[in-house]
Amino acid sequence: MKTLSPTLKKLVKALNASEFLSGASLGKILSISRNAIWKHVNQLTKYGVAIETAQSKGYYLKQPLILLDKSLVKKNLTYTSKFLPNKIEILGSITSTSDYLKELLIDSPNEIVICLAEHQSAGRGRFGRAWYSPFGTNIYLSCRWCVAKDVSQLNGLSLVAALSVINALKEFKIKDGLSIKWPNDILWKEKKLGGILTEINAESYGLTQIIIGIGLNVNMSSTAKDKIDHSWTSLNQITSGYHDRNKIAGLLIGHLMQSLEKFNEIGFASFDNQWKKYDYLLNKKINIAINKNNIKGIAQGVNEQGHLLLRTDSGVVSAFSAGETSLHAVAKSMR
Ligand code: BTN
Repeated sequence: MKTLSPTLKKLVKALNASEFLSGASLGKILSISRNAIWKHVNQLTKYGVAIETAQSKGYYLKQPLILLDKSLVKKNLTYTSKFLPNKIEILGSITSTSDYLKELLIDSPNEIVICLAEHQSAGRGRFGRAWYSPFGTNIYLSCRWCVAKDVSQLNGLSLVAALSVINALKEFKIKDGLSIKWPNDILWKEKKLGGILTEINAESYGLTQIIIGIGLNVNMSSTAKDKIDHSWTSLNQITSGYHDRNKIAGLLIGHLMQSLEKFNEIGFASFDNQWKKYDYLLNKKINIAINKNNIKGIAQGVNEQGHLLLRTDSGVVSAFSAGETSLHAVAKSMR
């Protein structure tokens, strides 16, 4: 279902009353039959929303669920920047927000389109991995920027996107413990809180299509541990509370726009100092895996293009533009 029906949205709002509500009273609130309520509750259950059903009492939402809402996202987009999204789309269930934007027609050069979804059925991570995307739980956001730049001018953009996520999280409530594992794993105290998948395609007429896909764990339940094969965390675990994703999405978009604007004008050089502050790998013994080769060394930060610098045992420092990094000692748990 590309977008959620207004009835389904209203039902979720009503169920958030945090008490049992009978089919009849829900029917009254929504002006639909009890049978229609039952069908919509079923739909939510199919999405994985935990709803308790008791014959005498009705329906009860086991955890709070605030759905994404375009007007609330916009309300929280308070960061001032010359760059603003031309369009923000909120979808219900989609294969992947990045794939959706790849197919969307481009209206004009320099256009920026944002897409958020409640659920991704085929969310993608780096290296062809799946990105677990349960309904109504986390942020699955993609941003498409169509720009008249050559691919070679876009070095470091992926790192810049990661820094914008860090800035949004800092403005939220997370003051300590944040770092970035090159190129763009967002970590909190060494656990993965979010990830970024940046895809760059040269288009016709000199345009380059950039799609930045951001996955951020917000209200993930600890039962998700069976679905994720690396050490992870989520904002609700860090701060012990449920979070309204509309607020976080607004902050993310605002900081991303500001960073894109700065990157467009100056490039990665203007982010270098900030990167140093959040560089998780700096001076650590690491492995970098590239096309089945495993290279060991000590991470030395990044160069002006955002490429990872690695000092190998021979003392030579080499730059890497791609690859999967891990720490020596915890190579298995911390991908
Ligand atoms: C990673 O760390 O492997 C990157 C994860 C990126 C996930 C996001 S969720 C929104 C967008 N849509 C996708 O299918 N993937 C990205």
